Amino acid sequence: MKALSVDHLLGIKQLTEADVQLIFETADHFKEVINRPIKKVPSLRDITIANLFFENSTRTKLSFELAEKRLSADILNFSAAQSSVKKGETLVDTVNNILAMKVDIVVMRHPNPGAAQFLSKRVKACIINAGDGTHEHPSQALLDAYSLREKMGDLRGKKVAIVGDIRHSRVALSNIFALKLLGAEVKLCAPKSLLPKYSSALDVSVETDLMKTLKWCDAANMLRVQNERMDVSYFPTTREYALQYGLTMDKLKQLRKDIIILHPGPINRGVEVTTEVADSEYAIILDQVENGVAIRMAIIYLLASKLNNNIT
Ligand code: CP
Repeated sequence: MKALSVDHLLGIKQLTEADVQLIFETADHFKEVINRPIKKVPSLRDITIANLFFENSTRTKLSFELAEKRLSADILNFSAAQSSVKKGETLVDTVNNILAMKVDIVVMRHPNPGAAQFLSKRVKACIINAGDGTHEHPSQALLDAYSLREKMGDLRGKKVAIVGDIRHSRVALSNIFALKLLGAEVKLCAPKSLLPKYSSALDVSVETDLMKTLKWCDAANMLRVQNERMDVSYFPTTREYALQYGLTMDKLKQLRKDIIILHPGPINRGVEVTTEVADSEYAIILDQVENGVAIRMAIIYLLASKLNNNIT
């Protein structure tokens, strides 16, 4: 059986193209499984997984939980807000106490960049990064690339724009790594204030004009404006941002070509995209969510098969 080159999923940065292709092949199989009347396989009957969420989540948390259930794993759900973290317990102590209950895999979302990597070096468990601050969100990038591949075929040579609040986005960095690994061309489009300082080190092109970007691309990933990570104003007003960087049906129609629209969610309707765009045939936002379950089943299955357990 083919295996991943890594023992944890900390970021796309650590993956090879063969790893990504293996995750996609495995997700193809699980996508077929979750569309059957009986959506469950017994593969991970002997595996216990803890989902540790130190930050809010709807899609990622539910998608990992459903993926684990579809694989027949046992699950512990941990929410920092209702835990002894509130009494001052450290991350490592918290996780080691959970692992003492014989947990094999930890899925963790944390506000601090590098938290998943930090944990992987200090505890004896497989760690899956479900988003670490503004750093990486690898499962999101894998489901985004998988959803694009489903619509466009091989991504080699395809032009993908990442638009919006790139500075505060973990989705952007993971998407850049994943798309480039698969041979796509990537352009970042944002006001200068929302571009990260390290953009020039990423081997991607940068544009501040949305219409020029849309004319160039085959697909655009419209990122959320992350107001909760902003301590100062990065643009004059939300209305002005929406006018310059918000995607409307009028802008799409001016292109005279069809492009694919992605959004990782949650959407600020009327800011990054209008309701008409979000709910249009251009958008594959709910396909991304559907594919998220198959991709996360594949990630968990492949990492679990590297543990010393009986995977059936
Ligand atoms: N895309 C994403 O990470 O959404 P959630 O924050 O709801 O998990």
